[in-house]
Amino acid sequence: MRKPVTLITGANGEIGHGLIEYCGTHGKTEVIALDLRPIDARLGDYCVACIQGDILDENLLQRLVSEYEIHAIYHLAALLSTRAEYTPDIAHKVNVNGTLNLLKLAHEQARWHGNPVKFIFPSSIAAYGLPDLETKHAAGPLKEHEWNRPTTMYGCNKLYCEHLGRYFTCHFRQLAVEWAPSGVDFRAIRFPGLISAVTLPAGGTSDYAPEMLHAAAKGEPYACFVAENAQIPFMAMPDAIKALTMLAEADSERLTQRVYNVTAFNPSAGELREQVMRFFPQAQITFDPDVARNRIVDTWPADVDDTPARRDWAWQPDYDFESAFRDYLVPAIAEFYRKT
Ligand code: SER
Repeated sequence: MRKPVTLITGANGEIGHGLIEYCGTHGKTEVIALDLRPIDARLGDYCVACIQGDILDENLLQRLVSEYEIHAIYHLAALLSTRAEYTPDIAHKVNVNGTLNLLKLAHEQARWHGNPVKFIFPSSIAAYGLPDLETKHAAGPLKEHEWNRPTTMYGCNKLYCEHLGRYFTCHFRQLAVEWAPSGVDFRAIRFPGLISAVTLPAGGTSDYAPEMLHAAAKGEPYACFVAENAQIPFMAMPDAIKALTMLAEADSERLTQRVYNVTAFNPSAGELREQVMRFFPQAQITFDPDVARNRIVDTWPADVDDTPARRDWAWQPDYDFESAFRDYLVPAIAEFYRKT
């Protein structure tokens, strides 16, 4: 008998850590973790299997199918926006072909066991692209369908994969003589920048916020790579995990769309610095903008409208700008660096 499981790709990444802990503790099925690098030892206790491998390796995915019955996939593996600009071909392969492989896997699995396979996908504010700062600040909080003109490879990949997911769910094999639903139940969240107390992101463009905080906690100086007035929305990591699992568990009848914005607070980089300084008054934070990376941040919205998520599946963040620092980030980061 194959075991029913939830597959989490990109397990070692920022979201993977918190999500695996959550699913391994509260989930209805056991978890298999997949990552290109050896799975972090901290995650082993929450998983029935930890697999080191590549989502582009179709043989590996086939082997998974022979051993496990996959009922849900959280497909987190991706190359983030800054890294993707340096290696756009690889980014396209990982971010698009990797997602396609997993959508095919979800479809195949649904056909085997006869139940829908939930496919939960973290998309991003990078799916937006505003042409200039004047338009950005005049636009107000963006709805999901507005300004979908990404200027990064990563943003293009995420936006296209949102469409691929919708296509697999609603239209796959639409010309078949006897059409049947694919069994893929794709749901995506467009995340703002994420800030975790226990992991640092690698290769993103919203990384200045977590980098600033972690440098302060370690007593290291930090030169921020965007200007003080750069502004995008952010969220504390526990809220990101909450959003993913709420959307995964939401009743499909209530979902009016497949892609949802979520947000919590949207400080400028200067306001972030002030907030970090309140808790770490000795912190040495300066601004040394990298023009090109700053330009990417300037194309992302200053705020997003998450009304559909609030309406359809009762989304609400637990942490605002104040409480994210006071109740989660600062205490958890102190604990983290004490232990490491
Ligand atoms: N945090 C991501 C990045 O900076 C955006 O989703 O690439």
